[in-house]
Amino acid sequence: MFGDSAVGDVRDPYPEFHRLRRLGPIHRVEAFGQQVNFVYSYDDVSRIFSDSETFSSVVFEKSLVMVFGPTILAMDGHEHLAHRGLVASAFRLKALEDWKTRLIEPITHQLIDAFVERGTADLVREFNFRFPIQVIANMLGVPSEDSGLFLRRSIEMISIAVNVERGLAASAALRDYLAPIVEERRRDPKDDLISVLATAEIDGVRLPDENIYGFLRLLLPAGAETTYRLLGNLLIGLLTNPDQLDELKTNRDLMPHAIEEALRWEAPVQQTAREVMVDGVEIGGVAIPKGDSINVSIGSANRDETKYDDPDRFDIHRVGPPHLSFGGGAHYCLGAHLGRLETTVAVNAMLDRLDDLRLEPGDADPHVHGSAFRSPTTLPVVFKPGR
Ligand code: HEM
Repeated sequence: MFGDSAVGDVRDPYPEFHRLRRLGPIHRVEAFGQQVNFVYSYDDVSRIFSDSETFSSVVFEKSLVMVFGPTILAMDGHEHLAHRGLVASAFRLKALEDWKTRLIEPITHQLIDAFVERGTADLVREFNFRFPIQVIANMLGVPSEDSGLFLRRSIEMISIAVNVERGLAASAALRDYLAPIVEERRRDPKDDLISVLATAEIDGVRLPDENIYGFLRLLLPAGAETTYRLLGNLLIGLLTNPDQLDELKTNRDLMPHAIEEALRWEAPVQQTAREVMVDGVEIGGVAIPKGDSINVSIGSANRDETKYDDPDRFDIHRVGPPHLSFGGGAHYCLGAHLGRLETTVAVNAMLDRLDDLRLEPGDADPHVHGSAFRSPTTLPVVFKPGR
């Protein structure tokens, strides 16, 4: 998922995905002395997600585990279920209601307060980038004034494919920062996720500290990198289709549709990976040897023309099968409800408080870009100054 992040910068990968889907179901490429099979169609991606015994996440042991430590993303079977179960209840819809009023709404309004009277803003820099890291830092139970530091360390950590030393140094720095907080919560638990992990047991055995750090190192980037990109993609979809923006403003029942369409149209996480665990597996009639890696293209699956009419169009009224942007099966995104809730609160507040919201006319050329992860880096907007 995060292993080869930040590699490449592409404005529009979709014509190439389209070409590859038409060429055949599997594209075998040799990379770093290993055969990697690229899979691009909706049906194949969806099948791979739903069968974690055949298509395993142990593939991440050679990449992510190096920097995160033990992490649920790379576990399978009972071990995965037991570890995921430790934090799963904190991310259920009901539990999130409390965070919504205590945390998500106040942070949203505080960030908007800082620019609402100006009538202009760069929404990526002044809102999207800051918002989810503050939410997840608070949910974990680390001081939100340190959220800038977390964001920097998380980005350094997940750029390990480009700079191994920097990734490992960031990973160690996060552990050094978190260690005294974990110790303190073990002595005096509070109402936060670090306390849940610090006091957790599996089969009567206390969760080893390395596993706690593994969780925290995953949750920071998983909770921040992704939601800030989803927000940017939804906003650019709406701002470049002002008729749909205006419709959503007057009919907020459309918000869930708009969010799902943004997730389909521009998947924040474009790809993930799996390893083939058994002999004799075929995808689209092509045999794949046991031990081979698979690169699973979520971004391509979501634009599969056999599933969606005019798939490149952003359309909040779209009907079609569910997008695959949160993955699927056993590893289905743990933060899907949280990401949707944060996005709903944020965009509702923007529509309420930033009247006549439009892209700033000028040469900034805001657009979605990226290869492993995608979103706009800037969203300069104008609106009626308010309060
Ligand atoms: C809002 C946009 C988000 C997107 C597009 C997204 C995407 C994904 C995807 C594609 C996976 C599956 C990876 C795989 O199977 O290889 C995943 C897993 C995961 N996500 Fe998210 N995510 C988002 C938000 C969040 C948030 C807010 C959190 C909260 C902390 C989060 C935490 C996780 C965790 C812990 C996993 C691992 C689940 C497991 O292995 O069982 N995500 N996410």
